[in-house]
Amino acid sequence: MNEMTAVTDTASEAKPAKATPTLPDAQTVTAVKHWTDRLFSFRVSRPASLRFRSGEFVMIGLMGDPDPKTGKQKPLLRAYSIASPSWDEELEFYSIKVQDGPLTSKLQHIKKGDQIILRPKPVGTLVHDALLPGKRIWFFATGTGFAPFASLLREPQTYEDYDEVIITHTCRTAGELTYGRELIESLKDDELLNEVIGEGFWKKIKYYPTTTREESAKMGRITDLINSGEAYKDLGVEPLNPESDRAMICGNLAFNLELKDMLEAAGLEEGANSKPAQYVVEKAFLD
Ligand SMILES: Cc1cc2nc3c(=O)[nH]c(=O)nc-3n(C[C@H](O)[C@H](O)[C@H](O)COP(=O)(O)OP(=O)(O)OC[C@H]3O[C@@H](n4cnc5c(N)ncnc54)[C@H](O)[C@@H]3O)c2cc1C
Ligand SMILES: NC(=O)c1ccc[n+]([C@@H]2O[C@H](COP(=O)([O-])OP(=O)(O)OC[C@H]3O[C@@H](n4cnc5c(N)ncnc54)[C@H](OP(=O)(O)O)[C@@H]3O)[C@@H](O)[C@H]2O)c1
Repeated sequence: MNEMTAVTDTASEAKPAKATPTLPDAQTVTAVKHWTDRLFSFRVSRPASLRFRSGEFVMIGLMGDPDPKTGKQKPLLRAYSIASPSWDEELEFYSIKVQDGPLTSKLQHIKKGDQIILRPKPVGTLVHDALLPGKRIWFFATGTGFAPFASLLREPQTYEDYDEVIITHTCRTAGELTYGRELIESLKDDELLNEVIGEGFWKKIKYYPTTTREESAKMGRITDLINSGEAYKDLGVEPLNPESDRAMICGNLAFNLELKDMLEAAGLEEGANSKPAQYVVEKAFLD
């Protein structure tokens, strides 16, 4: 018996089995859900050493195509907001599908059990530390810019720091609102969050979804709805005020810039990790 074992061991030492290739910083996909032909969300395992603040982003991706000359493959990485809160055992992401996009043309095909690359270096400006204390926080999102707020809406500190949490989400079509709507609706029945944050914490949330290119309950860009006063009327809240209001913005560049101007005009100042103030902003994608 011992001899047999010894013989087998010697044989395997002489000819080691070929190792299964693994990606650098690989994490395993645990779930994938497609919301529209342009949007999907997925969950992956979380590196044991990864600590992040709700609202931050990381670089994720896949191996790129082999170089035609050398045959070598390089990681193809893009910035992604972590959509899950800092306490979650897994990581969630909410993604666009750009049909000719180098990464998402492939990423949209991932399945449970596949591996993705995740660089465990979280960064970002959409964090509570970058804001001074206030009474009411506004989360302003367009499209996949909802992702960091999916994290912050499940973060206990959001409800410890503020009496009111207003989340606005503007998309072209009603289907593009579904991920956000279902997530917000699910908070009511989330036993863990109701226990940890406090029963009925979700009553602090005022959700204001709008569409611009398809009929829905509320049509129009949030910027126009605020400028006309309609959003304040619908929400039953006072206009933006630097004493009580704090804001986080995440959307396309034009949206970010327009809202930034509106907040500055209302007297709010931009904050940063190193110098907290009244609002912070981050691009949902580069253009
Ligand atoms: C700080 C930061 C955080 C980000 N977080 C997310 C996130 O949580 N989810 C996400 O889907 N993307 C996010 N992005 C965008 C992401 O990094 C990639 O651009 C996206 O995954 C597309 O990659 P790609 O290689 O397929 O195409 P790219 O070559 O990167 O983009 C091709 C074109 O597609 C459009 N595009 C790219 N991303 C988006 C988008 N999210 N929504 C609408 N149009 C887009 C732009 O016009 C862009 O020029 C973030 C970007 C930044 C800078
Ligand atoms: N969503 C789609 O169905 C679709 C389909 C094919 C391709 N694309 C392409 O994908 C890219 C991103 O599309 P997307 O829909 O995810 O994002 P987007 O173009 O950034 O639009 C998202 C939402 O933000 C609104 N918005 C844009 N600029 C704004 C501003 N300055 N102030 C306030 N609101 C503003 C849009 O309203 P408006 O509608 O008024 O602009 C829309 O409701 C674009 O290049 C687009 O051409 C999108």
